[in-house]
Amino acid sequence: MEDTISICEHHVCNTYARQPAVMVRGEGCVLWDEGGKEYLDFLAGISVCNLGHCPPDIADVLCEQAKTLVHVSNLFYTRPQVELAAELAEHSFADKVFFANSGAEANEAAIKLARKYSKDRYGPGRFHVVAMKNSFHGRTLATLSATGQEKVRKGFEPLVEGFALVDFDSVAAVEEAVTDRTCAVMVEPVQGEGGVVVPSESYLRDLKELCRRRDLLLIFDEVQTGMGRTGTLFAHEQWGVSPDVMTLAKALGNGLPVGAMLATEEAARAFTPGSHATTFGGTPLVTAAALAVLRRIASPPFLERVRQTGAYFMEALREVQSRREVVKEVRGRGLMIGMELSRPGGPAVEFCLRKGFVINCTHDTVLRFLPPLIVERAQVDRLAPVLDEALSTLR
Ligand SMILES: Cc1ncc(COP(=O)(O)O)c(C=O)c1O
Repeated sequence: MEDTISICEHHVCNTYARQPAVMVRGEGCVLWDEGGKEYLDFLAGISVCNLGHCPPDIADVLCEQAKTLVHVSNLFYTRPQVELAAELAEHSFADKVFFANSGAEANEAAIKLARKYSKDRYGPGRFHVVAMKNSFHGRTLATLSATGQEKVRKGFEPLVEGFALVDFDSVAAVEEAVTDRTCAVMVEPVQGEGGVVVPSESYLRDLKELCRRRDLLLIFDEVQTGMGRTGTLFAHEQWGVSPDVMTLAKALGNGLPVGAMLATEEAARAFTPGSHATTFGGTPLVTAAALAVLRRIASPPFLERVRQTGAYFMEALREVQSRREVVKEVRGRGLMIGMELSRPGGPAVEFCLRKGFVINCTHDTVLRFLPPLIVERAQVDRLAPVLDEALSTLR
């Protein structure tokens, strides 16, 4: 039989730079490849498997739902979908939820909602969105246009009209970019793909005030930061400010494709029957699983543990930093941690993989750690010396 990597090369579009490992099984924070090699996972499928791989309670919910009802379309009501919407609302600023299948789709919904909200209120022409440099919002044409990274946009021009990109963490830059045609400001509370960049204390609050003054919708993209990743259910809670619209995906289904756009009653009113839709949005299968995921992550002791393990992990990484000059900064919130290097981090990722540890590098020079939120201190202790050795090999 032809091996997996060759079949992939022949038959799967060449859009990903993959690591040379064929993963076959996962349990908690551990992955196994087809050769039986074990890996400790500090990436969680890029902040997706926040409850670890294949948690038995979620698997049980999934199996039960798969035997009961998988899909009927949104032409009917289904209980898991409405319960998930109600519980997301209960745990957030939001009143209403639109279900999608990915982060990009949730963001598309947010952008469409902002345009429609503004059109209903002010008439046509007010459809521009201010987004941030180094942001990442997805790969559909509109979310690509909101994404402030040249490497993601290149080759797909002309992009969608009406997106202004300004410096992250500068309210003055947003203020300068806002015109009579602006309808919304879109921002990640902590930039993920852009290198785990945490804004200053007043940034999100000042953005909110600016949006209030100019009647703009404030959209928080919590696709990566949401679902407990930063130590609170949603990252923005830590800044004491809530948006008008928030998007979720990634860990919402712990690996099942489900995204959501959450909005206040006032903003959500812009969507009416027929204005937006997707066939698979909020199927009973994925929403039953997501409901079980939400109930576990939203529990205060679970979140407290994320904060404590995050602090412990950060400390361990700072200890490594004190020994390795190549490390410029360690930063993050909860279990979303970046280690900025003065050199490209790719070789360190490869080194760790060879030693049985999955980490990631984003923005070329930022090692990124997004372990399952159930990671244990003893597992952090196992990573630290390997990382230290990996950094010593960087030239
Ligand atoms: C902040 C943010 N928004 C949106 C997306 C896009 O999500 P998806 O890949 O599910 O479309 C990502 C993916 O990394 C993300 O990190």
